[in-house]
Order: sequence, then C-alpha cells, then structure tokens
Amino acid sequence: MKKLLTLVCVLGGSFGSLTSATVKAEQLDDASLRIAARQQAMTFGKQLKQTVQQGMKAGGPTAAIHLCNTQAPAIAAANSQGDWTVGRTSLQLRNPANAPDAWELATLKSFDQRLAAGEPPAALEASMLENGEYRYMKAIPTGALCLNCHGSALAEPVKTRLSELYPADQAVGYQVGQLRGAFTLRKTLAD
Ligand code: HEC
Repeated sequence: MKKLLTLVCVLGGSFGSLTSATVKAEQLDDASLRIAARQQAMTFGKQLKQTVQQGMKAGGPTAAIHLCNTQAPAIAAANSQGDWTVGRTSLQLRNPANAPDAWELATLKSFDQRLAAGEPPAALEASMLENGEYRYMKAIPTGALCLNCHGSALAEPVKTRLSELYPADQAVGYQVGQLRGAFTLRKTLAD
C-alpha cells in the first residue's frame, strides 16, 4: 500500500480512484478477517476457561494446574489445525514457549496503555496484514478465577506446584481488571 501511495504521489492524481478502491478492498478484507479472528479467539478462550473450571471443580487449583500445564498447549494445537494458528502471550510469562515476538510485544504494551487511557478491556484488539499473513491480537483481562494461579496471595501447594513446573514463572501478582496477556492469531492468506 505504501508503495502504491508513493507511486500516486510521483505520478500525480490520475491513480486517485484506484488508490481509494484498493484501500476499500483492504479495509473490507481486514473487517471480515477480524470477525473470523474474533470467533477463533472466542472458541479457544471458551475451551481454556471450561478446562480450568472443570479442573478447579474436580480438585481445586493444584489439580487444575496440571490441566493448564498439559491441556493449554494441547487446546492451542487442536485449534491450530485449520487456516488459523492460535496461541497466548504475555508481558509476564509463565510458559516461556508463549514469549511474544516484536509485533506482539509492541501490541501488548499498547494494550496496557489503551487500558490506562480508559478503553474497556473488551475493545482491546489489534490486527495487521504483512507478507501475506494476517495477524490478530485480543487482550485477556484478569478475572477473579485467575487469581488462584496468577494473583498475589497463592495457596502454598499452588505456589510449590507452579515453581516445580515453571521455575522462571513471572505470571503472578495480578489484580482483577489488569491485563493478563492476549490471544494471538495468524492466518496465511492465499496469493
Ligand atoms: C489452575 C491454575 C490456573 C488458573 C486458575 C489460571 N491459569 Fe493461566 N496459566 C496457568 C498455567 C499452568 C499456565 C501455563 C500453561 C501454558 O503452557 O500455556 C497459564 C498460562 C496462562 C497464559 C499464557 C501466557 C503465559 O504466561 O504463559 C495466559 C494468558 C493465562 N494463563 C491467563 C489466565 C486467565 C485470564 C485466567 C483466568 C480466566 C487464568 N489464566 C487462570 C495456570 C492457571
């Protein structure tokens, strides 16, 4: 797009209508991709939440940690078999495999800034199209349930189990309403 705009600047106004048509097509595309991405993120999030809730019900947070440990990556993998790749990332990681790349890092920081500026957590999403790939992120707010394993007053067995599984765990000390991280999705677009 930048290239096209530069071309228009160099050649004058004759490509004006072409430019606006291209912009429109891109926006439409982005809008429909965003709807699909939201749907994917919601399904993934729902499955994760149900898994944690089932685990908590069955055996409390210590048992649920086991489920998160094994099932969170498995659920992400199961949801990544079609066109989309789904995952989660954060500025304070529990699982180092969820580390953000440059765009994810910048987006996570911008989500925190937007939250601080008063945007509701549900509105915190971002997307981009680059190198034939669509990328989407959506913020994950911290709820009361999350504090069992991400809060600042963890039960002793929870603390112990977490430090066994994640010796470099940074994902504690959260309060309700803070952003715990974000869903991060990718889709390769056909040429
Ligand atoms: C029973 C303990 C437990 C509860 C409750 C829990 N989590 Fe986690 N969380 C974990 C574990 C264990 C991992 C690492 C799993 C993995 O490999 O993704 C994790 C990872 C994450 C990640 C991935 C980023 C990272 O740090 O690796 C996010 C985001 C996250 N949790 C958000 C939440 C939210 C939001 C809630 C509340 C709705 C929640 N968690 C509730 C244990 C828990």
